[in-house]
Amino acid sequence: MLFSENESPLEIWKSISHELHRGALDSKHPFRYINLGTIGKTGPEIRTVVIRSINTNLEFYIFTDFRSEKVAELSANSSATLHFYHPGKRVQIRIKATSEIHYRDDVSTANWLKVQGDAQKAYTSNLPPSTPISDPNQGFEWPENGDDSFFAVLKFIPESIEALQLNGLKHLRILFTKSENWEGQWLVP
Ligand SMILES: Cc1cc2nc3c(=O)[nH]c(=O)nc-3n(C[C@H](O)[C@H](O)[C@H](O)COP(=O)(O)O)c2cc1C
Repeated sequence: MLFSENESPLEIWKSISHELHRGALDSKHPFRYINLGTIGKTGPEIRTVVIRSINTNLEFYIFTDFRSEKVAELSANSSATLHFYHPGKRVQIRIKATSEIHYRDDVSTANWLKVQGDAQKAYTSNLPPSTPISDPNQGFEWPENGDDSFFAVLKFIPESIEALQLNGLKHLRILFTKSENWEGQWLVP
């Protein structure tokens, strides 16, 4: 369990915040790989992404290819949902957020320095992500010296954070919202 009904909303907030920070720091932590939901042209879209960092305001950063669908979707509608599940602690976190796209700016340039060697290939393919190809090898073509031409950093700024703690017959659900100064509100699970 991450939290119990005996704890105050403030204590629960601190536990959630601590666990979210651990996820960004530890590549084996379940909160490292999350589901990112966006609003697509024909409906909801979802995919797995890596949380690269998180700051003290609980703003999340992920890396991506500027040419990817998710960037186009977030350009059209900056709303997103981040979904986390910790099987050991049996807790789900859902974060509704607004997003910023950092591309060819100070944020993307600073983060590109952290992307070393072959890891750069994730953002430098010759053909843009989602391009239909007749041979899978066409997806493994990169320029000799890849640069940050297509590297983008997505920043997610939370509007609400909801946690569901599974616990037998007494599941716990609590909602923290920015507009309520992050005070916790218990909900029926
Ligand atoms: C474990 C895992 C981690 C991933 N991490 C990222 C990531 O950090 N950034 C990213 O752009 N895509 C990542 N992907 C790929 C995305 O899930 C997705 O397939 C790709 O970005 C294209 O998504 P889009 O067309 O919706 O933009 C990851 C996939 C997996 C399975």
